[in-house]
Amino acid sequence: MPRIDEIADGVYRICVVYEDIGLQFNHFLVKDDEPLLFHAGLNAMFGDILDGVSKLIDPSTLKWVGFSHFESDECGSLNKWLELAPRAEPLCTSLGAMLSVNDFAIRPARGMNDGETLTTGSKTYRFCSTAHIPHGWDAGVLFEETEGTLFCSDLFTHFGEVEPLTGSDIVGRAKDSLLNMQQSPFAYYIPYTPQMKGIFDKLAALDAKTMAVMHGSSFTGDCGKALVELSSVIEETLG
Ligand SMILES: [Fe+2]
Ligand SMILES: [Fe+2]
Repeated sequence: MPRIDEIADGVYRICVVYEDIGLQFNHFLVKDDEPLLFHAGLNAMFGDILDGVSKLIDPSTLKWVGFSHFESDECGSLNKWLELAPRAEPLCTSLGAMLSVNDFAIRPARGMNDGETLTTGSKTYRFCSTAHIPHGWDAGVLFEETEGTLFCSDLFTHFGEVEPLTGSDIVGRAKDSLLNMQQSPFAYYIPYTPQMKGIFDKLAALDAKTMAVMHGSSFTGDCGKALVELSSVIEETLG
C-alpha cells in the first residue's frame, strides 16, 4: 500500500518505494472538478498507485493524466488510466504530444504550449517548456497558479526514506545524490546545457510555494532560491 500525504491544499502525494535502489516514486493526485494525476507511473507500480488514487477519488472520474516527459516512470501506465477513466486525457507539452504521446496513447493528448493555461475547476495550471530539464527535449513542468504548486518532475531527485514534505535543505540532498550518482548508470540523468540557467531562472520567477518532487521529499519554502541554487549545483558538478 502506498503512503499518501496531502502536501498542499488538495494535492496528494502517493509514494511507492522502489526498494532495490532506495528511491521513492511519487505521483500527485489533485482533487478538483476535473481531477488530475501528475505522473501516471510505471506499469509495475500501477496497482499500488491505483490503490492510492482510489482512497482519494473514484478513479474512473479522473480527467487529466499529466507528466513532464516521455519515460516509463512518467507515463508507462498511461493507457491503463485511459482505459479505466473514460473521459481522461493525457496532458503534456505540445512537443511531447507530437513526438511520442499521440502515437503511444489510446487517446490523443492535450499538448500544451509554453505558458498556456488549463482550468480544472478551482485550479489553473500553466505548462512551462523546459527542454532537456530534467531530461528529454519534450520536457516541461506544470505550475498550479492558484496555490503556487510546481510539479517539477525529476528536479531535486534524492534517495532514501525521506519525509513527504520538508522545509529544510533540499538542494543539499539533491547535490549529495548527484555526486553519489557520478559512478553509477544514473550519472548524467540531468544534462548541463547552455540554456539551463535561463530555464531555471524562468521557473524561479514563478515564485512557487511548494514543489512536488517525483523522487524524494516535496519542498515548501523559498522555491525560487532553491531552483537558482540547484542550477548552480548542476553547473558546478557537470558543467
Ligand atoms: Fe525522468
Ligand atoms: Fe522520474
